[in-house]
Amino acid sequence: MKKPQPVESLTPLEARAEHARLGDEIAEHDKHYYTADAPVISDADYDALRQRYEAIEKAFPILVTAQSRSKLVGAAPSEKFAKVRHRVPMLSLGNVFADEDAHEFVERVRRFLDWSAQTPLAFTAEPKIDGLSCSLRYEKGELIVAATRGDGEEGEDVTKNVRTIKEIPHHLHGAHVPDVVEIRGEIYMRKDDFAALNERQISEGKPVFANPRNAAAGSLRQLDSQITASRPLRFFAYAWGEVSGRLADTQFGMVEAFKHFGMPTNALMRRCETVEDMLAHYHAIEDQRASLPYDIDGVVYKVDDLTLQQRLGFVSRSPRWAVAHKFPAEQATTILRDIEIQVGRTGALTPVAKLEPVTVGGVVVSNATLHNEDEIARKDVRIGDTVRIQRAGDVIPQVLGPVLDKRPAGAKPYVFPDHCPACGSAALRELDDKGVPDAARRCTGGLICPAQAMERLKYFCSRNAFDIEGLGDRQIEIFYTMGLIKSPADIFTLAERDQASPLKKLKNIEGFGETSVSKLFAAIDARRSVPLNRFIFALGIRHVGETNARRFARHFGDFNHMRTIARAAKDPESEARAELNAIEGVGDVVAEAVADFFAEPHNEDVLDALLQQVTPEPMEAVVSSSPVAGKTVVFTGALERMTREEAKAQAERLGAKVSGSVSKKTDLVVAGPGAGSKLDKAREFNIEIISEDDWLARVAP
Ligand code: IVH
Repeated sequence: MKKPQPVESLTPLEARAEHARLGDEIAEHDKHYYTADAPVISDADYDALRQRYEAIEKAFPILVTAQSRSKLVGAAPSEKFAKVRHRVPMLSLGNVFADEDAHEFVERVRRFLDWSAQTPLAFTAEPKIDGLSCSLRYEKGELIVAATRGDGEEGEDVTKNVRTIKEIPHHLHGAHVPDVVEIRGEIYMRKDDFAALNERQISEGKPVFANPRNAAAGSLRQLDSQITASRPLRFFAYAWGEVSGRLADTQFGMVEAFKHFGMPTNALMRRCETVEDMLAHYHAIEDQRASLPYDIDGVVYKVDDLTLQQRLGFVSRSPRWAVAHKFPAEQATTILRDIEIQVGRTGALTPVAKLEPVTVGGVVVSNATLHNEDEIARKDVRIGDTVRIQRAGDVIPQVLGPVLDKRPAGAKPYVFPDHCPACGSAALRELDDKGVPDAARRCTGGLICPAQAMERLKYFCSRNAFDIEGLGDRQIEIFYTMGLIKSPADIFTLAERDQASPLKKLKNIEGFGETSVSKLFAAIDARRSVPLNRFIFALGIRHVGETNARRFARHFGDFNHMRTIARAAKDPESEARAELNAIEGVGDVVAEAVADFFAEPHNEDVLDALLQQVTPEPMEAVVSSSPVAGKTVVFTGALERMTREEAKAQAERLGAKVSGSVSKKTDLVVAGPGAGSKLDKAREFNIEIISEDDWLARVAP
């Protein structure tokens, strides 16, 4: 074996390359070790790899990131769990940070219901557990399926592993267990169990976990459930999915019912009658935080009455009836070693602080965001400064500002580049209508900028898009740089081209072996057909994120239909543009962005090539069974049993479009006392007119 070059004599470039290669190699061995429990090299060889890796990180601290193998354990497992579609989506929560925001949340709920400050309105308040959520489906009291949250719509089947968690009953107790009940909650690891596990890892020469949450996630997502069984996982039940019959009228009552079924529930859940009670409980939990046996990162408030929860419904992926009140972010100081400019998918230049690694709230941080040019100038952050940073939950750590006493002599104000570091094109700040410059400076290189192209590809393969296992950011960088993948369609011709090429086989690239290449090809093949919403999301159309992609998918049902309308929508006065605009939640800005995307010939070429390889699966409209699905409804006059906002949300939930004015396209007018000209117009056009009571009887019979 060639003697390795001493770490001290590596150039930064060599160090970066070797660090990446070793990282991949270690990841591969970790996978063998942790997921299959079948190491392929000796412990001594493994240790040697890690020592070299760590020596490089010590000499080149800039290479340390949160993803660094020295910080992580047990690679994310690949293609090994079957997917489970959640019958009721698993939602996330909106966050608030200050007491005033909690007040504002309660007021918002009251406004939505049109309740005065005097009407009693109870909430539950309970700790927000820092673990990973899981849905447990019981049929006739027996645990049938356990699934992770995944993207909220589809998770991974971890039933076998969950069955090894002692706290989770295999069958529910009691006489009132419903036929079907999906109990949801958090899988977590206690702090003392986490410390003991890490000690065990160290004594066995294995790497340690960064925090209890990572340990819980890594332990649950094991191929071999024997390993999960050896890990001390626990569970708190706090929510539910599908349930047959009604178990209780309140949030509190539901959780009590789960407790009677034998589920572990959190003893710190309280029912609060006022905002003051909620905040008092929040601060009481905050005071106990350090001494609690498990990690928490805030308190969750939920409207207690389930009928009200139902009325309040959801906005995008979060309920209107619940919110997470997070604990204040944790802070630390460290040295700003450099500012790196990253070029995003849309060309925005984002400054990233490269920091001397520091532990903040149990996690090692070596990168933080500086947001944009103005922020750097406003904070006057300079390279070499000691800076204050903060980290809250999962958000990217931020640089708050410099510690001026510690500024080194000669530190110069940072000059933001006016050229793209990736392609050299000018980077400009666009002005809006009023002449105000955009916060982001953008590369003008467009299609010639390799950084933008690469980011678009990463986005295309990301979790909520094509989600191709084994084709992560690093692999895309390699394939792009080698010229193997330039546009999305190339991903799907990779295997064919690899076969045809006598010399440059993928398996010969460092870091890819025969097995990983064949797995990659299989993962790519598995995505030749994808759900329509993922396909639309993957295109990276401006303003079309997950929610809007789903809206378009549901509206059009198939991609060709969407494409035809979107092309025709180029003319702002067209019917097609009006159709886009009328989709619930889609406004002018989004409709224009979609029309622009399809009007660009290059995008059409990319799409044509892609559609040769991939079939977007048609999607059924979700609420087609509702009596008002697809109808355009106008509410006019006073509503007495619900607020305007609630009426609109309810109609939209059932698939109707709500419009503010009556036209020939209106299908239904719901008129209350005091209705005026809209009612006249409805009569003139011969449109069906009903009362609020009729409406309620129709939609919620
Ligand atoms: S309720 C419909 N309650 O927080 C609302 N979530 O940010 C469903 N979490 O994905 C969530 N403790 O993993 C709820 N007491 C609690 C929680 C909790 C932790 C997690 C959960 C969820 C995430 C949302």
